[in-house]
Amino acid sequence: MFSRLYQLAYTRRNMSSSSNPIPNLKLSDGHEIPLIGYGLGTANFKGRGSTEFSEKIVNDTLTALRLGFYHLDGAEAYNNEPELGAAIARSGIPREKLYVTTKTSVLEGDSIETAFSRSLEKLGLDYVDLYLIHHPFFAKSPADLVAKWAEMEAIKDSGRARSIGVSNYLVEHLEPILASPGLKHPPAANQIEYHPYLQHGDLVKWHKEHGIALEAYGPLTAITKASGGPVDAVYERLASKYGVTTSDIGLRWCLDQDIVALTTSGNEQRLRGYLQSLPSFKLTPQDIDEISEAGKEKHYRGFWTNRFAADDHR
Ligand SMILES: NC(=O)c1ccc[n+]([C@@H]2O[C@H](COP(=O)([O-])OP(=O)(O)OC[C@H]3O[C@@H](n4cnc5c(N)ncnc54)[C@H](OP(=O)(O)O)[C@@H]3O)[C@@H](O)[C@H]2O)c1
Repeated sequence: MFSRLYQLAYTRRNMSSSSNPIPNLKLSDGHEIPLIGYGLGTANFKGRGSTEFSEKIVNDTLTALRLGFYHLDGAEAYNNEPELGAAIARSGIPREKLYVTTKTSVLEGDSIETAFSRSLEKLGLDYVDLYLIHHPFFAKSPADLVAKWAEMEAIKDSGRARSIGVSNYLVEHLEPILASPGLKHPPAANQIEYHPYLQHGDLVKWHKEHGIALEAYGPLTAITKASGGPVDAVYERLASKYGVTTSDIGLRWCLDQDIVALTTSGNEQRLRGYLQSLPSFKLTPQDIDEISEAGKEKHYRGFWTNRFAADDHR
């Protein structure tokens, strides 16, 4: 099965057109995901306690949509699915042109069906393109991981999520699912923190071998929270070589490894710049290696730090 998945996955198709310059990545289930996504977390995150509808989140998301960011990465934990749904509705962009992800937090006492129905209702959609389990930390045993995955498979079988996957899973979380005798639909994607300062050992290679696409969140961490490290000089040199920004280099480092990059910005100029610059150049394998090697000189994790020891590089 794995060799078949390997053949299906990572068949990259360039879907470029003047209206959508972002290429797609083919998933193991046959669906395609745009390689750049606009995140509804981080800058757009609405605190758990906040019940007030945020016009700012709607407007920022609308800006991204109007510029051409048709891949939207949401989650029930971001507490802004109604704003994401409103932005989609107000954009007037046909649903089939968009790629919408949401995630379940796997709250205690919640079935996946309950969580998923609640998300769809908040989004005002009748399907999502990708539904993810946000993290594996709910599980007390491998059996819990397998049981929740079976519930995800039921969502895919219902047709209300085109693809299903996970987020923040390590090999130890995925292996029981892949080895499960009842497995019907292997996870199509795993969304992880990924940047030069968190390359997770051989996790990327393992995913490619198993046909599971990777999505990188926090891809610009080397420029933002962890700036001042050995990657700075390499990014600067490559930005000047290609006549682009260091942020473009950081995102391209993901795309050129066939990894989906999820970013966000409240800066319209920056978002516009990505859509103009990213399709205009490509890093060479040597450029990619140079960034990767410089990145290995420093370790930095920006998310879920309460779940990992400071020296845990997985
Ligand atoms: N599954 C998970 O557990 C998980 C966890 C975290 C995030 N995510 C997802 O991933 C998405 C993206 O995460 P992220 O926001 O951390 O991505 P990111 O692309 O690493 O960071 C985006 C931030 O970088 C800033 N930036 C870009 N270029 C810059 C530059 N040259 N100088 C200074 N600042 C710069 C932007 O600021 P400006 O606003 O000024 O442009 C923006 O706030 C989230 O929204 C969420 O959807 C998922």
